[in-house]
Amino acid sequence: MKKRVFSGIKPSGSPQLGNYLGAIRRWAAEQDEYDNVFCIVDLHAITEYVEPAELKQYIREQTGMLIASGIDPDKSILFQQSHVHEHSELAWILNCYIPMGWMQRMTQYKEKVEEQKEQVSVGVFDYPSLMAADILLYDTDIVPVGDDQKQHVELTRDVAQRFNYIYGETFKLPEPVTGEVGARIMGLEDPTRKMSKSEGGSGQSIALLDSENVIRRKIMRATTDSQRDVVFDESRPGIFNLLTIYQTITGESRNDIENRFHGKGYGDFKKALGEVVVETLHQVQKRYAEITADPSYLESILKKGADKATPIAREKLAQVRERIGLG
Ligand code: AMP
Ligand code: TRP
Repeated sequence: MKKRVFSGIKPSGSPQLGNYLGAIRRWAAEQDEYDNVFCIVDLHAITEYVEPAELKQYIREQTGMLIASGIDPDKSILFQQSHVHEHSELAWILNCYIPMGWMQRMTQYKEKVEEQKEQVSVGVFDYPSLMAADILLYDTDIVPVGDDQKQHVELTRDVAQRFNYIYGETFKLPEPVTGEVGARIMGLEDPTRKMSKSEGGSGQSIALLDSENVIRRKIMRATTDSQRDVVFDESRPGIFNLLTIYQTITGESRNDIENRFHGKGYGDFKKALGEVVVETLHQVQKRYAEITADPSYLESILKKGADKATPIAREKLAQVRERIGLG
């Protein structure tokens, strides 16, 4: 029996290079080792306002990008969260077993409160409960996530443990797994902040659908410093991040990379990095264009995915209801 992997991606903007290098590419590469469930988490996306037409577009882009990056919908279950109603129902049930204190300690929530103060939605607060429901419905063993999501997987384990303690063995405890290289790709303009979907239009992020020229230009303009030598030095966040992107894509060692650019300046390195990124994304973009040429293809994939996910989720929820006394 293969171990089950579950991961989710939020359709809250156009997918960017950090998503690809930190998550999607790895999911695709490890697909045959595991029994995979990948979810377009639209209910998580609406915890912060998204224009309806844009949300629809992002769901399509996200789905198309996963397939273009190598996720095979015949091998992996690929579906849209809101199509499987069991996610919302289990999230509500889990709410009743999660103390407020656990939620209030979540870093992502605290950051949003900083930004939005009292306007922060209850959905943002409750986000980890829905994420726990996503994971627990599928008896997940492994959750591949970026650094920032680890805390949410820990909370998932905590609530699963508490539920199991009260009602007897019901949920499997998932393990979060983060990659070593590429787990945190930083922005190009401000390399102290993570590259993110919400800044897709700016020089901070490279969108997966950016044109070749835009990609090259964003990299050439990326913030560095006044030094010259192309070396992995964490105290120089700009060049360090660019080198990390190069390393993640090429899979070469730090030593080999430093040797290759020995005696050259930042400009030469940035040019080379531009080529490497363009080349990688070109493949993905080509495949994306083929997939989206037929407008009904993505819908049919998501429908098939929901048909496969629903019976699994339904069985787990029935068990939960029975245990609680709702069944
Ligand atoms: P999100 O864009 O927040 O929906 O994240 C989807 C997946 O991409 C998660 O596994 C994230 O941890 C990962 N991810 C997002 N941004 C980055 C980044 N800048 N570097 C590495 N991984 C990222
Ligand atoms: N919260 C995750 C993120 O922002 C997305 C997500 C939702 C997720 N449900 C999940 C990731 C379940 C892993 C497993 O990246």
